[in-house]
Amino acid sequence: MSGLDALTARNGLLYGGDYNPEQWSPQVWREDIELMRAARVNLVTVGVFSWSLLEPSPGEYAWEWLDEVLDLLHGAGIAVDLATPTASAPPWLAALHPETSAVDARGVRMSVGSRNHWCPSAPAYREHAVRIASALAQRYADHPALALWHVGNEFGQTCWCDLCAAEFRTWLARRYGDVDALNEAWGTAFWSQRYRDWSEIVPPRAVPYLHNPAQSVDFQRFTSDQMRSVYRAQAEVLRAVGDTPVTTNFMGFFSGVDQHSWSDDLDVVADDHYGDPQDPTSPARSALTHDLTRGVGRGAPWLLMEQAAGGVNWRPHNVPKTTTQMWHDSLRAVAHGADGICYFQWRASSAGAESFHSALLPHAGPDTRLHRAVQAQGRGLEALRSVAGAPVRARVALVFDWPSLWAGSLPARPSDRLRVLDQLEAYHRPLWRAGIATDVVPPSADLTGYDLVVLPALPLVSDDDAAAIAAVVERGGALLVGPFSAVMDATTRVRTGPFPAPWTQVLGVAGQEWRPLPDDGAPVRGERYGDFRASVWSELVDARGAEVLATYGGGDLDGDPCVLRRADGDGAAWYVSAVVPDEILERIVLDCAADAGVTAPLEHVPDGVEVAVRGDVLLALNPTSRDVVLDLGAHADDVRDLLAGALVGRRPTLPAGGALALCGLRPADGTDQTDQTSGGDE
Ligand code: GAL
Repeated sequence: MSGLDALTARNGLLYGGDYNPEQWSPQVWREDIELMRAARVNLVTVGVFSWSLLEPSPGEYAWEWLDEVLDLLHGAGIAVDLATPTASAPPWLAALHPETSAVDARGVRMSVGSRNHWCPSAPAYREHAVRIASALAQRYADHPALALWHVGNEFGQTCWCDLCAAEFRTWLARRYGDVDALNEAWGTAFWSQRYRDWSEIVPPRAVPYLHNPAQSVDFQRFTSDQMRSVYRAQAEVLRAVGDTPVTTNFMGFFSGVDQHSWSDDLDVVADDHYGDPQDPTSPARSALTHDLTRGVGRGAPWLLMEQAAGGVNWRPHNVPKTTTQMWHDSLRAVAHGADGICYFQWRASSAGAESFHSALLPHAGPDTRLHRAVQAQGRGLEALRSVAGAPVRARVALVFDWPSLWAGSLPARPSDRLRVLDQLEAYHRPLWRAGIATDVVPPSADLTGYDLVVLPALPLVSDDDAAAIAAVVERGGALLVGPFSAVMDATTRVRTGPFPAPWTQVLGVAGQEWRPLPDDGAPVRGERYGDFRASVWSELVDARGAEVLATYGGGDLDGDPCVLRRADGDGAAWYVSAVVPDEILERIVLDCAADAGVTAPLEHVPDGVEVAVRGDVLLALNPTSRDVVLDLGAHADDVRDLLAGALVGRRPTLPAGGALALCGLRPADGTDQTDQTSGGDE
C-alpha cells in the first residue's frame, strides 16, 4: 500500500516536477499548461516557496493567483502536490520575531535573503508555519486538483540557538530521566565534563577541541526529532481537513534527518536525487539511494520528487546529463520502486539564485533537444503504466542507519578513510551489478523475510538490534559483516572485550586490534580468492570456529585471518576485516548470495549494462556505446518489451544508449515471483 495508489490508478506512473508559477505571468501559465499536456505531465508540486506571496503581511492572504493556477491545472487534468510554503519564511517574520532565524554553531544568526533560515524551536515560527498551513488546508482541501500535500522542503538544517538549547535539554531529560543517567551515558567523567544540572548542558557549539561524541550524536537525534515535530505540526492540520496523503521530500543519505524514524509520519516517501552525470559511479549510487528510499517506506512505491533534467547550478562545474542519462535515471528509479518521476523544476527561472539550473522547459523554450526528450520521456513512462504499484521483491537486506552514519563520521576515530557510505556502496555494488534486488533497511527492521543480510558498516548498534541481527544466522539465513562493526553501543560507548562484541559467537571471530593500513595497503593471500591487497583498514582477529578464507600475507598481521566464514546449520556468517578490492568483494558478496540461495535474474549481464526487476518487469539499461545482446535463457518464450510494445525473442538486442522493459520472463529457478512477499513489505 502506498499513498500514491489512488493517483497511480488514475494516471499510471506520475510525471512532472516543481512548478513555480509565481515567477511568471498568467499568460505564461497558459503556455506552461499546454506544454505540460503535450509532455504528458500529470503531477506538479506547487507553492513550495510562495509564503511571502500567499501571506504578504501577517494574517493577510492573497489566494487569487493560486486559485487560478490550480483551476487551470485541474482543467488540464494535471494533479497537484500542494506544498506548505514553510521552508522559506517571509522577511516580515524575521523582522517581527528575530528569534525565528536560526543560529549556527559559532553563534551567528542567519539573515533573510536566502531560504531555510528558520529555527525549528522558535514558537513564533511554529505558530506562523502552522497558521499558513492551516489556511492553505482550509482553502484547498476540496479542490479537485489536490492529490498530495507536501510539507515544507528538504528538512535537514540545524540550529544551535538558545531556544534549541532549551528544547535539547527537555529532549535529553525525556531520554535519560535524570542528569546522572546522562552523565553515565555521555561518559562525562572524561575531560571534567560532568553536569550538575540540566541547565548546564548546551548543544555542541563552537569549542576549542573535540566535542563529546555522545553529545554530538544525541544532538543529531534531537535535531531530526525537532524537524519531525515541525513536519508533524503541519501534517496534522492537513490531515484534519481530509484524507489527502501527506509527504515531504528527503535527500537520500543526507545526514540531517533520520528518515527511518519518520516512516510512520509519511503516507508517501519522496526523495530528491541529484546524481552527478560526470561521475561514473553515479548510477550505482543512485540505485543504492533508491533502495534506501524504498526501505524508508517499508517497500511501498515512492516518489522521485526532484532530480535535474540537465545540469544543476550548485556544483562548481555543472556538467549536464545527456538526454540518455536523463531517461536512464528515470527508468532506474522506476525499476527500484518509484511510481513518480519528477524534476526540479518545470520552467527554468530567469531570476533568483537558481536561474542557471536546468529544467524540463529550458530558457530556450520548447523547440529544443532537451524538451523534445522530455516529451519522449512522457510517452515512455506512459508505456510503463502497468508497472505502477508493483513491488520490488528483495531477498537481500543491506543494513544502514543514521545513528551509525553520525557516529561513524565523528572525528578522532582510527581512520577517517573508512567511511560508512563508501562501504555501503562497495557492498551494494555487486548486488546491483547482478540485478539482485536489495532493500536498504535499518537494523531495527523485521529481518525475518530476508535470506541474506549484509552489514557493510554499522559501527553503532544497540544491544537489541545486535541480537536481532545475530538471529539471522540462527534461523538459517546468511549474514555478511564488514569491518569496524558494532564497535559502539547506542550511546557511542565503545564495547569492551573481543570485537565485534555482540557477534563474536555468531561470526566465530574474536577481534583484538583495528589497524588502519599505510597508503600502499597490505598483501592478502586468498585461500579462496587468490592474492590481493587490502587497503585503508585491517584488523587483528582470531578465528574461533570460523573457517579462514583469506589470510594477511605480510607485516604485523602475517598469517592472521582476513576473511572468514562460519557455517551454522543452514545458516552462514561471513566477516570481512579489511577493505578489499572491488573485484574480490564482488566475489565475496555473490558467494554469500549463493550461500543464501539468492539468484540473479539473468545468468549473464553484459559489461556496463544495468538490470533490475520490478514486479514482473525486468528493466535493462545500456549506457554504453555498443549494442549488446541479452541472453534471457530458456525461461523466456513470450517476452514483450513494454517500451517498444513488441514481442522480443530469447536474445533481444539492447541498442547502445537504449532500454528495454521486459515483461513475461519467468524466473530461472522456476519459482513464481508473485507468490513471494518482500521481507520489507509489511
Ligand atoms: C533542491 C531543492 C530545490 C532546488 C534544487 C536545485 O535541493 O529542494 O528547491 O533548490 O535543490 O537542485
